[in-house]
Amino acid sequence: MVKNPCSPIGVFDSGIGGLTVAHAITKLLPNESLVYFGDTAHLPYGDKSEAAIQAYSIKIADVLLSRGCKVIVIACNSASSASYELLKEYVNKQAHVINVIDPMVTWVASHLAGKKIGLIGTKRTIQSGIYSRKLKEITESITLSSLATPLLAPMIEEGYFNNKISHDLIEEYLQNKMFENIDALILACTHYPLIKSEIESYFKNTINILDSSEIVALALKDLLVSNNLLSHSPPSHSFLVSDYTESFEASTQLFFGKIVRLQKHPLWN
Ligand code: DGL
Repeated sequence: MVKNPCSPIGVFDSGIGGLTVAHAITKLLPNESLVYFGDTAHLPYGDKSEAAIQAYSIKIADVLLSRGCKVIVIACNSASSASYELLKEYVNKQAHVINVIDPMVTWVASHLAGKKIGLIGTKRTIQSGIYSRKLKEITESITLSSLATPLLAPMIEEGYFNNKISHDLIEEYLQNKMFENIDALILACTHYPLIKSEIESYFKNTINILDSSEIVALALKDLLVSNNLLSHSPPSHSFLVSDYTESFEASTQLFFGKIVRLQKHPLWN
């Protein structure tokens, strides 16, 4: 296992959605260096097969390992559901691997026992049934109602939020009867923090909207502390994408809070 606290944290997603997680990490752990990989050439993952996402994840892990990452954070629910177990085996002690699903499941199980909870995410995440399976392993007391909302991530990538289109689409999905009387809603896609306030408004701020970014950053901190891997050096970040467009670079501001300079790094040579 890589033991050097100065090594960077690898973070990846299908595109720039995982920057919401990267942003939470930089806030909580300001001395950690990040290598972010957005697989923009293969976006969206939510509609891809499990096998395709596994193949992309392995290639991305190779890139992150070649950069000496001490931890790989799968900052994408679709990839977490498809590739986490495989990636842990593949990386095999060269780095720690964490996903965005387990920290949320643990948090929900310990804070919302006995509640009725809604969950929205991509087709890949919802069809995998991974949240209800993992929750049931911890508690039987939570009722989970899950709905695939496949148009939300592309809508957000295109910069459509806080407007009439996003308002109508969010309403169309959330007025589903399965969400009547829920106590909380899990945002099981790393793009969705960008529409969190619109979703809160839809529910008139009466329920808890759960976004995984801070919960995952906290899980990462616990992992670093317990393995003596916390960095105390000034950070330096790099942001790689498998396909480059100027519009992606401009959109990073929305997800990361500031524009980041993207470098093109093709996955297949
Ligand atoms: N950010 C990805 C996730 O958390 C969704 C986007 C996609 O479909 O690629 O599932």
